[in-house]
Amino acid sequence: MPSPILDLAGITLEVNHLPRGIRFYQQVLGLDLLHHDEARQTARFRVNAAQHLTLWKPVTRQANDPRLAPLLARGASHLHYAWQIRPEDLEASQAVLDEHGLPWTEIDLGTPERPDRTVYFFDPFGHGLELRGVDLGDDRQPAYPPRPVSRPAHALPVLGLREVALAFGDYAGMKARLPRAYGLAFAKEQEDRDFAQFTLGPRPEPDGNGTPRRWLYAWDPQVGLADMFGGDHALVQFYADVDAVLALVRAEGLPHVLADGRLAVRDPEGHVFEFLPPL
Ligand SMILES: [Fe+2]
Repeated sequence: MPSPILDLAGITLEVNHLPRGIRFYQQVLGLDLLHHDEARQTARFRVNAAQHLTLWKPVTRQANDPRLAPLLARGASHLHYAWQIRPEDLEASQAVLDEHGLPWTEIDLGTPERPDRTVYFFDPFGHGLELRGVDLGDDRQPAYPPRPVSRPAHALPVLGLREVALAFGDYAGMKARLPRAYGLAFAKEQEDRDFAQFTLGPRPEPDGNGTPRRWLYAWDPQVGLADMFGGDHALVQFYADVDAVLALVRAEGLPHVLADGRLAVRDPEGHVFEFLPPL
């Protein structure tokens, strides 16, 4: 059966200072601020036509989103996630990070024959960001392919969100549950660490070599590449065949909220996944 998951729709990050978060994501990433709610301490940004990034500062005895209150949803802490860029923009991106005074690390994830240079840096809240080059002409296109976008001067030329890496304490339980309970397409795992890769699309595909596909990675909590952590109590949005995911979630018996065609589910490890109908 093909996976009902269509693509990565967005992420929600926990921050401890909302104005600083808004400044960072407007100035460094060049994202458009769509909505800022001071009472609920939330800010929502447009990444591209299909993807969003949201910041939540926790508020005492108040839910950032009342709809998700039954699931005790929070934004992700110390999440590792990646942005798609054009490979030819990598060096200009390093210069942008230098202009903003942000330290970065470059790692080549490819081979000498086919380099796959990537840049890692942190936002002010300990979320680990990555810039990864994608080949816009590759066959492995996601449901909502990245397209060139214009960003303000002095902002990174990001095209879209590429991947999210979550922490899990029970790796074996996670590996069995994510395909069973949500229909995620397990692609592969690494031999030398607890690191499973799920393709956010109808079937598992090989990662790397410039794929524009989107990915969910699942790590046991550990320091990995460039000292990036998988996020705890993450809130991640996916495009999906919502009815198909709902049937799996009900069979699994997981706590969930269904409203306005959107399904939100609390995973036993504390992550909340939201499944949105296609655009
Ligand atoms: Fe990464």
